[in-house]
Amino acid sequence: MRVVFLGPPGAGKGTQARRLADRYGIPQVATGDMLREAMASGSELGQRARAYVELGELVPDDVMLAVVEDRLRRPDAERGFVLDGFPRTLAQAEGLDDLLRRLGRRLDAVVLFQVPEETVVRRLAGRWTCPACGRVFHESYSPPRTPGVCDADGSPLVQREDDRPETVRRRLAVYAEQTAPVVEYYRARGLLHSVDGSQDPDAVAEAVEAVLRHLVEVR
Ligand code: AP5
Repeated sequence: MRVVFLGPPGAGKGTQARRLADRYGIPQVATGDMLREAMASGSELGQRARAYVELGELVPDDVMLAVVEDRLRRPDAERGFVLDGFPRTLAQAEGLDDLLRRLGRRLDAVVLFQVPEETVVRRLAGRWTCPACGRVFHESYSPPRTPGVCDADGSPLVQREDDRPETVRRRLAVYAEQTAPVVEYYRARGLLHSVDGSQDPDAVAEAVEAVLRHLVEVR
């Protein structure tokens, strides 16, 4: 299964991508997580990305395409993958098509998570993440068993730098300017499936499953 998850910041892409990856035994290729790991390690990629990520701007396309190519060439992506946060520009979408062509593979589906802006703002303001395992919680909607502590490994939870209100506003504007055209790109290719991402996480997961089950059946 080769799937792209699209949607605005806070739409629930990461939450659902993790579930799908666990269910199908495929890697979750989350470009935002990869950049945050690179930033934490102080690598050359991390140093280059920091200025963009902290302002809510997009990291340049050539950098992101190289990161994704490297990841999709690893053996665990041969059975499939869920791309979470990529592509985000038309150039990235075209670059992904080119890469998959060179690898002799093709996308099965693109799932668009539709969530009203006021909902994503609330979600990002209450998001807490585990820096060790990447699990995501929300202080009201999906709180950890012990406040401030990861259920899975007991690490102290942190809030993302780019979830500050002014950066969230910029990320939403960047989505409207640069990522919305990607939605039309996939719609025109007949790959786009919209899901109501404003429901509770189990209901969203069922809607995603319904889309993907159908695709597996018709294959
Ligand atoms: P990235 O990390 O990809 O951020 P994003 O796309 O803005 O998405 P988020 O991670 O904020 O949200 P999400 O949709 O995954 O929601 P989540 O599941 O966490 O990118 C960060 C930055 O990296 C970018 O700004 C850019 O600088 C750079 N970057 C990354 N990829 C790039 C690329 N391809 N090109 C260039 N630059 C790139 O959920 C959010 C919250 O809501 C959580 O608290 C969760 O618990 C809660 N929640 C989730 N689902 C539900 C639900 N159904 N009901 C109630 N609460 C829910």
